[in-house]
Amino acid sequence: MASVDEILQTLKTRSFGRRLYLFERLESTNSTADELARDGAPEGTVVVAEEQTLGRGRLGRRWLSEAKTGLYFSLILRPAIPPREAPVLSLAAAVALHQAMESLCGLKPDIKWPNDVLIRNRKCAGILLEMSSESDELKHLVLGIGVNVGHDRFPLELEGLATSLFLESGHLFAKESVMQSILESLEPLYDRFLSQGSCAILDSWIKRSSFAQGRRVVVELNGIRRSGVTWGVTGEGALQVKLETGGTEEFLSGDVVNWE
Ligand code: BTN
Repeated sequence: MASVDEILQTLKTRSFGRRLYLFERLESTNSTADELARDGAPEGTVVVAEEQTLGRGRLGRRWLSEAKTGLYFSLILRPAIPPREAPVLSLAAAVALHQAMESLCGLKPDIKWPNDVLIRNRKCAGILLEMSSESDELKHLVLGIGVNVGHDRFPLELEGLATSLFLESGHLFAKESVMQSILESLEPLYDRFLSQGSCAILDSWIKRSSFAQGRRVVVELNGIRRSGVTWGVTGEGALQVKLETGGTEEFLSGDVVNWE
C-alpha cells in the first residue's frame, strides 16, 4: 500500500481519513480504532492494516485477513444520535461500497441485507459496525470495512461464496484507491444522515439492493430460521419480511442465509 503521505495527497475528503494510521499487521483494525477512540481520537480517524491476525466479521465470525490481497480498515465516528439509530450507518457504508465499486471498478454489485456487498451473488465486501455506549448514550462508533481486492482464489470453505474485485473485473486495483473511493462516497452520505436523518440513506440503500422488496429469503436470528418474502426496510434499517407462516416480522439484526 502507498504511504500515509501519498494517500493524503490525493484523498478528496474533509475529515474522513485525514488522520490516518497505517499498520503492517494488527489483530483487528476495529480493536485498534476502538482503543484510539477511547483515547480521544477525533471523528474521521482511519486505521488501516495490511494484514489482520484476528479479523472479525458479523455475528462472531472470522474475516479472512491475509496480507496483500485484502483491504482492511476502520473509521471512527462520533455522531450525536441515540444508539438505536446507529445501525443505519452500516447501511450507509454498504451504499458507499456499492458506489465505489460501480464508479471505480465499473462493476454492478448488489447489497444483501444488511450490508454484504455481493457481485454475481458472491460476497466481495463486509461491514462490521461496533458501538461504544454508556447508559443509552453513544460514545463512539467504529465502522470496520473489509474488501476482497486482489484474491485470485479463496480457501475451499469460501469457494462459491466469496469473490474479489480482481476476479470480477480482471483488474488489480490499488488497495488505497479502493479505500479512498469508499471514504469519498461515505463522507457525503454521513453528512446527509446527520442533517436529514435516515430517510436519505434508506432511499439510496433500497435503490441499490435487490433484497429490499419481493425477494424470497431465509433469515437466521439466534439460531432460528424464518422464511418469507422481503417487504421493505424500516426507518431504523430493520428488514421487514412477510413470513410463510403468516404475519410480518421485522429483523433489526440477523443474517439472510438463503435467498432466491
Ligand atoms: C462481515 O461481513 O461479517 C463483516 C466483515 C468486516 C471485516 C472488517 S476488516 C476491517 C475491520 N476489522 C475487523 O476485524 N473487521 C472489520
